[in-house]
Amino acid sequence: MTAVTNQSIGNLLTKGVRNVWYPICPSHFLGEKPISLRRLGFKVVLWRDVAGRPVMLEDHCPHRGAPLSMGMPLGDRIACGYHGVEVRKDGTVVTVPGSPGCKLEGKNCVKSFPTEERHGVIFAYAGDALHPEPIELQFPEQLSSPEYSSFLCYCEWEGDYRYVYDNVMDPMHGTFLHKQSHSMSFGDTTATFRVRETPTGFVFEKEGQRNVNFDWTEFLDTGVHWMRLEIPYPATGGPGGNFHIIGAYTPITERRAAVFHWRCRKVDGWQRDTWRFLYKNRLEARHWRVLEQDRVMLEQFEPDANLRENLYQHDMGVARLRRVFRTKAEAQLKALEAAGLPLQ
Ligand code: FES
Ligand SMILES: [Fe+2]
Repeated sequence: MTAVTNQSIGNLLTKGVRNVWYPICPSHFLGEKPISLRRLGFKVVLWRDVAGRPVMLEDHCPHRGAPLSMGMPLGDRIACGYHGVEVRKDGTVVTVPGSPGCKLEGKNCVKSFPTEERHGVIFAYAGDALHPEPIELQFPEQLSSPEYSSFLCYCEWEGDYRYVYDNVMDPMHGTFLHKQSHSMSFGDTTATFRVRETPTGFVFEKEGQRNVNFDWTEFLDTGVHWMRLEIPYPATGGPGGNFHIIGAYTPITERRAAVFHWRCRKVDGWQRDTWRFLYKNRLEARHWRVLEQDRVMLEQFEPDANLRENLYQHDMGVARLRRVFRTKAEAQLKALEAAGLPLQ
């Protein structure tokens, strides 16, 4: 049996730790036809069942390995386009039209993923062999509470998804990389940070500076590895106080990440309408410009950039977050090893 090594931990981290939900794609990706995506070390097919709920299976026909996404969705099943084998949404082969009664029928041999569609996004649970049942999925109040209004902003970046987490866990880059931005030109260019524990994760914050700039970031583990932050808005940003961002990032490949941000504001009534109007007409373009600064910077990082670093006090949050992921990955692999199950 393979032992848990730095390399196996690294491999798992590259694909994303297991036993947690991940955002997969915006809801609008799913139309009439099945789609094929790479996520979390898998190639997956998605379509909608008879009730309109998203189904996600590994995009691999159990007969000869043709992509199921080239087949025909039949509600709760999909028929492979190559020889017509039908696979149910739970991964069980229901019919083999070319050879009825063959032993493939009735076999559950295609990996299936539990899904949830919430806040404009399809989420999937990636459990390992010891944890096939999904855990509870809880949303931050910015998404779950009716007091907030939000817009989803989705993009894909050419880089390791962990660089996106690192970027968001690094408030100080706001003062430099985004210094031209409308809301991040204030605040000290030097600061001392501290880590504060919370029931669901931790906050990484500037000492003695709040509501001036991008002054803190929070990591929350509530079934998804969320990031949360707030950025103060000038009066021209309209009603609603600080601008809140909820993020979560999913590996597509080793060098490509799916980036989900919900841009939120605590507004209701006429304020909600005002903000939503302002956002669409003025603010969204500004926010995209800021996000582009991050993308352009991160895409230029070498894949091994994080092997040649000299971290300082402002990077405590980054170091802490990497440790959280690494500890989880190591524990998951050790549990599989102890159970005599293959390390994935
Ligand atoms: S490869 Fe799918 S039915 Fe043959
Ligand atoms: Fe940024």
